[in-house]
Amino acid sequence: MVYDFIEGAAGREVGVSRNEAAFDNIMLQPRVMENVSQRSLTASILDQSFNVPFGVAPMGMCNLACPNADRFLAEMANKFNFPICLSSAASSSIEDMAKWAGHRAWFQLYFSSSEEASMSMVDRALKAGFETLVLTVDVPQVSRRVRDLRNGFNLPFKMTPRAFWDFATHPRWSLGTLTAGAPSPKNFVDKDGNSKFNRSGNRAGANWDFFQLLRKKWPGKLIVKGVTSTEDAQRVQSLGADAIYVSNHGGRQLDSVPPAIRLLPLIRSAVSSDFPLLFDSGVRNGEDVIKALALGADFVMLGRPALLALGAEGVTGLNALLKCFTEDISVVLAQLGMTSISDLKKNVIFDVTATR
Ligand SMILES: Cc1cc2nc3c(=O)[nH]c(=O)nc-3n(C[C@H](O)[C@H](O)[C@H](O)COP(=O)(O)O)c2cc1C
Repeated sequence: MVYDFIEGAAGREVGVSRNEAAFDNIMLQPRVMENVSQRSLTASILDQSFNVPFGVAPMGMCNLACPNADRFLAEMANKFNFPICLSSAASSSIEDMAKWAGHRAWFQLYFSSSEEASMSMVDRALKAGFETLVLTVDVPQVSRRVRDLRNGFNLPFKMTPRAFWDFATHPRWSLGTLTAGAPSPKNFVDKDGNSKFNRSGNRAGANWDFFQLLRKKWPGKLIVKGVTSTEDAQRVQSLGADAIYVSNHGGRQLDSVPPAIRLLPLIRSAVSSDFPLLFDSGVRNGEDVIKALALGADFVMLGRPALLALGAEGVTGLNALLKCFTEDISVVLAQLGMTSISDLKKNVIFDVTATR
């Protein structure tokens, strides 16, 4: 059930495959005999400097992947020096994450139930010391995800015979999760501390008016996540966002969505050339990170791979994944004849039309 929650997507799951295939169809042009013995992966975004050009995307209920997943993400963010996003639907609290990851933690906001309830989460984030807010706007309504429907996956969680069998046949996960305390959404709570999260609730209140209210209220950096159209991107920039996060939610919302990596260069051309862009959806290795940076992203975020690594081997798995990404990026830079992330431009992408 948990694997399907992480890996699943909208409809027939063609959109998620298309995201990955689009990356595979992009080729990089190697260059030779440059002096590439010293290489730096340092990258900056929104006045923050990081040791690597990637971070971890906001994902709800990470502690389902393994007990303490959010804490492990924070630990690795501090070790590798990269940003992580705490989802509104996280199974750890805003206050705990602020303690664990400090300025490396950004807070991701879903509009939920009412303007008042959503803004109260923003107040909490502000009070806890968060400086960067990510408003996700591509989930006006959670999509039908067939695997979750088949498994009866929902929040709050309901035990069904199918779920019982699933837990009984995965004893390591079940015992570990029970011992650590069953994960629940920790941030949508009423005044008595009871979880009020309704996963299938309408989130369409994240509209242009709400965005403008939020812009007035939030003193820190404001990123808008889930933008895929050039018109929307221009409007988001003109209304005062600090950055756009180009993403199709990993194909979890619209099965027929175009591959995110194909949209990225279009959005890069539609906004000012120095306007910060973040990117996710379909990034599976260091070469994909390089491709996204070359096609106009200033920073790249990892989604499913981080949760799958946590699910496979906890913090050890996450550490191994991050090492692979870091080493890959460094080696690929060398192959391209470059020594730093800021050198990456569109000319590292092999132009297929040249061979026709
Ligand atoms: C299990 C899971 C939960 C997610 N929860 C959220 C969320 O709470 N908020 C959000 O903005 N995006 C959420 N996302 C989307 C990710 O932030 C990201 O856009 C997506 O995973 C990128 O696609 P990829 O994982 O295929 O690379 C979630 C993704 C997954 C896999």
